[in-house]
Amino acid sequence: MDNYEKVTELARRRGFLWPAFELYGGAAGFYDYGPLGAPLKRRIEDIWRQFFVIKEGFAEIEAPTIGVEGIFQASGHLSGFSDPLTSCKECKEIYRADHLIKHIIEVPDALSNQEIYSVIKENEIGCPECGGELSEVYEFNLMFKTMIGPGNKMAGYLRPETAQGMFINFPRLLRYFRDRLPFAAVQIGKSYRNEISPRQGVIRLREFTQAEAEIFIDPRDKTHPRFDEVKDVRMKFYSQAAQERGEPEEMTFGEAVERGVVAHQMLAYYVARTYQFLLAVGVSPERMRFRQHQSDEMAHYAADCWDAEVLLDRLGWIEIVGIADRTDYDLKAHMDISKVNLKVFVPFEKPVKRQKLVVKPDMKALGPRFKGQAKAVAEALKSLNPEELEGERILIDLGGEKIEIDSSLVSYETVEEEVRGEEIVPHVIEPSFGIDRITYSVLDHAYYEDTVDGEARSVLRLSPAVAPIEVAVLPLMDRDELVRPARKIVDDLRVLGFRVDYDTSGSIGRRYRRNDEIGTPYDVTVDYETVEQGTVTIRDRDSMNQVRVKVEELCEKLEQLRSGALKFEDAGEPVSSAKEQESPAA
Ligand code: ATP
Ligand code: GLY
Repeated sequence: MDNYEKVTELARRRGFLWPAFELYGGAAGFYDYGPLGAPLKRRIEDIWRQFFVIKEGFAEIEAPTIGVEGIFQASGHLSGFSDPLTSCKECKEIYRADHLIKHIIEVPDALSNQEIYSVIKENEIGCPECGGELSEVYEFNLMFKTMIGPGNKMAGYLRPETAQGMFINFPRLLRYFRDRLPFAAVQIGKSYRNEISPRQGVIRLREFTQAEAEIFIDPRDKTHPRFDEVKDVRMKFYSQAAQERGEPEEMTFGEAVERGVVAHQMLAYYVARTYQFLLAVGVSPERMRFRQHQSDEMAHYAADCWDAEVLLDRLGWIEIVGIADRTDYDLKAHMDISKVNLKVFVPFEKPVKRQKLVVKPDMKALGPRFKGQAKAVAEALKSLNPEELEGERILIDLGGEKIEIDSSLVSYETVEEEVRGEEIVPHVIEPSFGIDRITYSVLDHAYYEDTVDGEARSVLRLSPAVAPIEVAVLPLMDRDELVRPARKIVDDLRVLGFRVDYDTSGSIGRRYRRNDEIGTPYDVTVDYETVEQGTVTIRDRDSMNQVRVKVEELCEKLEQLRSGALKFEDAGEPVSSAKEQESPAA
């Protein structure tokens, strides 16, 4: 069994996650989160909120998961959101063509369909199932389509990213933020992609959770006012240049921006916050890297993009977050399709005076010529730019009707005007997190094995900040005199907001093992010294050490342990014989 198998088996057996619809034979790409998986995922989302909603002041919104066609026409998903496929000419099995050449080409996303097919041919790659010949490579759109209402009148699409919810609400968000840049909105919610062969657990789902932030900025200023807070953070950067050398390069974020490894502070700041968030939820720094996209690998909307990748057993390096500079691509595209002006008026610090060439239509000449339309013609002439007034014939548009005017019918004058600001299309920085992939990475990186008295022990070294159970309360025996104080401790801890489990089944050693395996940081054992002396033991999952504390001090100590204000060794009197009770049979 490799670690991947061990972790997925543990996740299924202990109630973290398992393939959905088991009762009806299942369907690839859908997973259920169980009684331990759902709180683990939720706690990760809550830490994400702490980072991006609370600390950054971004606004959280909730848009529908079904979108109308115009959205995806503008976003490019209708025409361009597809994967390259190939199918076996013998057994008809269908495959992601780029995945079949991943062992030959490091970044197959950069190749055209024809190039992928050439690699398949040159390397004589056959059907992984039956060895049959593979077809030419063709495109498959990944969006799920549906019809809105009866009568097939209106097409709808399950959103492939939460991002568009923020883009199409841009005018309302701008007003909410009092018409000032920069500002940002976020969503945590479901996205849907009809993935071709989702065979990697929650890494590739057809329904998954994204947490995305769209940060709208003034394109002329890509500095970040709080960059100083992250400039000394050190990390491994796997830039385009470093990828050519084959080795990530460690440096601070300050150096990365100075040397142009990351294009600007604004992007670097959110890469740094992403790094800190991933550390906070328990992704291992040794098995994490930030890789810059190759220019030909970038999504259709991106000018620069960094992926947080994690090393997972069996699966290799997997993207869990993408942080992209989406420039003005989306807002311009939505302006184009919706015909709504999404520009922002940015005032100058002080109004400026400018010389402006304006048209003086000759009404005496225009009147007899255009009669009732003369006034409209004059207005149309006044609205033209200086370049449009060049030449002998001037073209105007009168409600769709194109009219040519002889330049002798107008004269010009230069006037001074006061300009208070200008209209710009904001750029967007987007950190896009895949919560399912992060949740799985946390489990994979937390998984650990050791032996106690010759017995194998599996442990999930989950951070107390994400553990689905924070404290297990375990009466040594299922007897009334121990159950009563144990129940009281459970109630007291729950009042304080702890996630508590109470367990009396099986030997104490077996109960410790069960809690180690689900990542419970602390076990509280109620024994006869609780009855006689009013004390309980707290056991630390990782070291298996125990300390004895007074019952009346227990809640406060656990709160301090949870917040990191107290070290475990300082929490109480060490119990020297504790590890002797550890064998599951004890
Ligand atoms: P991949 O190349 O692995 O398919 P992607 O480049 O399509 O990923 P993005 O479009 O950048 O991924 O999506 C943003 C984030 O959403 C990813 O970093 C990932 O964590 C998550 N994500 C994307 N597709 C899936 C999926 N099918 N299942 C689970 N999470 C996903
Ligand atoms: N919003 C980025 C993506 O999902 O592709």
